[in-house]
Amino acid sequence: MQDRKHDPQSYAALSGTFDPPTTTQTASVQPIPLRQKPDPLVCRGGCGELLEPVTIRRKGEALYVPLRICDPCRVAENDRERPPEHVVARDRRLKTIPIHLRETRGGKPITFQTLDRDRGNARTLELLEQWIPPWGSIFLSGPVGSGKSQALACLVRKLIEGGGSAMWTSEQRLMRMIREDFGRRGSTLQREICDAPILVVDDLGAAARTDWERRIFEEILSERSDNRRPILMTSNYSLDDLRALYSGAYDERNQDPIRGDRIMSRLSQMIGDRQWAIHGRDRRARR
Ligand SMILES: Nc1ncnc2c1ncn2[C@@H]1O[C@H](COP(=O)(O)OP(=O)(O)OP(=O)(O)O)[C@@H](O)[C@H]1O
Ligand SMILES: [Mg+2]
Ligand SMILES: [Zn+2]
Repeated sequence: MQDRKHDPQSYAALSGTFDPPTTTQTASVQPIPLRQKPDPLVCRGGCGELLEPVTIRRKGEALYVPLRICDPCRVAENDRERPPEHVVARDRRLKTIPIHLRETRGGKPITFQTLDRDRGNARTLELLEQWIPPWGSIFLSGPVGSGKSQALACLVRKLIEGGGSAMWTSEQRLMRMIREDFGRRGSTLQREICDAPILVVDDLGAAARTDWERRIFEEILSERSDNRRPILMTSNYSLDDLRALYSGAYDERNQDPIRGDRIMSRLSQMIGDRQWAIHGRDRRARR
């Protein structure tokens, strides 16, 4: 039990100095004129202590205010209301997942348990649920809106809730971030991308248009593959399409089939047999 005399918040101190009590101590109680001294109340914090009312002065008039909770119980109650440190940190890590894939409009978490399942996604969702680090990379392909990103989001949520951490980005955003960051002194962005325990690259192939973008992707890929750090990927393209894209097949002046081969060789090795598809209609169309 703390020494109340030296605690400016304590009711002992309050009653001596006529400072107003804190709102949590006297929440929703009416001040009472001095001539009707109210009975002491049992602390609602559960310690069993009888709390004498405190006196305050309002507009020159002295008033009694009953106390509902003692200081130690109030402190304990505040601590209970605040989520523990590891929960705060976990919620911060979850924010890497784009909000529309992380929670419903009503703020409910979207998880493997809440997803609709049908013939087009059931098997792949099962395989994803079984994936645990440090297993290798994942390549999820399928048509627009079929639920590839949503499926990875559920996996990433599960990993983070289990204490892990991940970095979520799309290929386009990755390239934009690195481009904007380029040449900034002391930049650690590319380092962080290479070192993230789990990296999500959503929409692979969406930003393989310039020679520079293809080179950057090769750098990140080889660094992560050398260190056996997985990349979880989604794409509208097949691996064959990606070989053409990363070779610069549609970029007349910068064709480089060797780079395409190098990238695909590494990617295939990292992905192994975790090349999964999600079929089905565009789920966005329904809304
Ligand atoms: N199994 C599911 N159950 C319910 N809603 C889903 C499911 N899968 C996806 N959705 C919803 O459908 C929408 C499209 O899903 P998502 O963004 O994952 O598609 P995608 O395959 O990544 O599309 P794109 O190729 O355009 O990136 C999202 O709003 C998502 O929340
Ligand atoms: Mg997507
Ligand atoms: Zn108490």
